[in-house]
Amino acid sequence: MSRDDPGNQSADTKMNTIIEHIDPNNPDPEVIARAGDIIKKGGLVAFPTETVYGLGGDALNPEASAGIYAAKGRPSDNPLIVHIAETDSLDRIVRRIPDGAGKLADRFWPGPLTIIFEKSDAVPVQTTGGLDTVAVRFPEDRTAQALIKASGGYIAAPSANISGRPSPTRGEYVIQDLDGRVDMIICGDDSRIGLESTIVDMTSEEPVILRPGFITLEELGEVLPGITLDRGLISEDPDIRPKAPGMKYRHYAPRGELTIVEGDNESVISYINMKTGEASEKGLRTGVIAHDERTGMYKADLIAGIGRETEPEEAAHRIYTVLRRMDDEKIDVIYTESMSEGGIGTAFMNRLTKAAGHHIVRL
Ligand code: TXA
Ligand code: MG
Repeated sequence: MSRDDPGNQSADTKMNTIIEHIDPNNPDPEVIARAGDIIKKGGLVAFPTETVYGLGGDALNPEASAGIYAAKGRPSDNPLIVHIAETDSLDRIVRRIPDGAGKLADRFWPGPLTIIFEKSDAVPVQTTGGLDTVAVRFPEDRTAQALIKASGGYIAAPSANISGRPSPTRGEYVIQDLDGRVDMIICGDDSRIGLESTIVDMTSEEPVILRPGFITLEELGEVLPGITLDRGLISEDPDIRPKAPGMKYRHYAPRGELTIVEGDNESVISYINMKTGEASEKGLRTGVIAHDERTGMYKADLIAGIGRETEPEEAAHRIYTVLRRMDDEKIDVIYTESMSEGGIGTAFMNRLTKAAGHHIVRL
């Protein structure tokens, strides 16, 4: 390892990052053991999960958590998710397991679901951004599980992007963002899901979804009929703020200016083509994000398909890749079609709306 005190890692200091490519179905035990040692010693390792890549450090070591914030350039009041590799590991880090939380864990773990509990004293406040609650997830990905076990059982991991960039769904994106800032990057396949986990708060009287994700309100409602979506996520009133500290930041932002256009297909197509036409005349590079049925109907420098309208999971899977491509192609203005809410559409529109800084045109 090239540094002794991760807590002093400044975002500008270049360090030597080891890059390893692994077989996702059969991760090399030697690589996992070395990565586990790095984390046990307080270092940082980026690794694949089924949602997005994570930037991992020892969740029970306050200096490792401080190192994660420094490497990402992330505000330290934005708490981290603690990743475990067996449900029994909960006992050490939470004060109690409410009945409803136990039911969620039985049904959806391992998988793309994060549950918020009251934290035990074993979890440092550096990991929880000063909160007395802790977010916990048991990922399904094999490499993630092997690494968590090799690291002592508890890995704090935010998405492995620089703060403000789209979450990385490919090893190469992690390398773009974090090479020189972490001890090791483990590259596997593209993330199967491509959107961050659904977060459910089980510390309030009624369960609340703080961040929509692949596991939908409808599916969660089958286990916990009273569950609702945090009002702060849907309200346009700026005084009603999201409960998850991270949801208030303008995450997931491409460098170009992104606008969502809603309306019937014909109006959306003619509005977007008018706008990209105007932008091109000013010498700006233009991008359009559209469902596959209509990609041929737009005029722009880069037209990115997000899958057919009948396969919303595909849109969720592609969105971060598409936003990064817009950056790679130096697109200045981006217009995107919208998707109907409900099911995975809620998570997709949540991320898209944030990426657009709430800039929506309704025709
Ligand atoms: O799928 C995922 O969850 C990925 C992979 C790597 O597991 N991780 C991830 O972490 O998305 P991150 O740090 O990018 O997002 C964590 C979110 C933030 O919005 C944060 O505010 C919220 O979880 N959060 C964490 N602990 C919380 C707590 N105790 N109470 C409320 N919100 C919390
Ligand atoms: Mg993130």
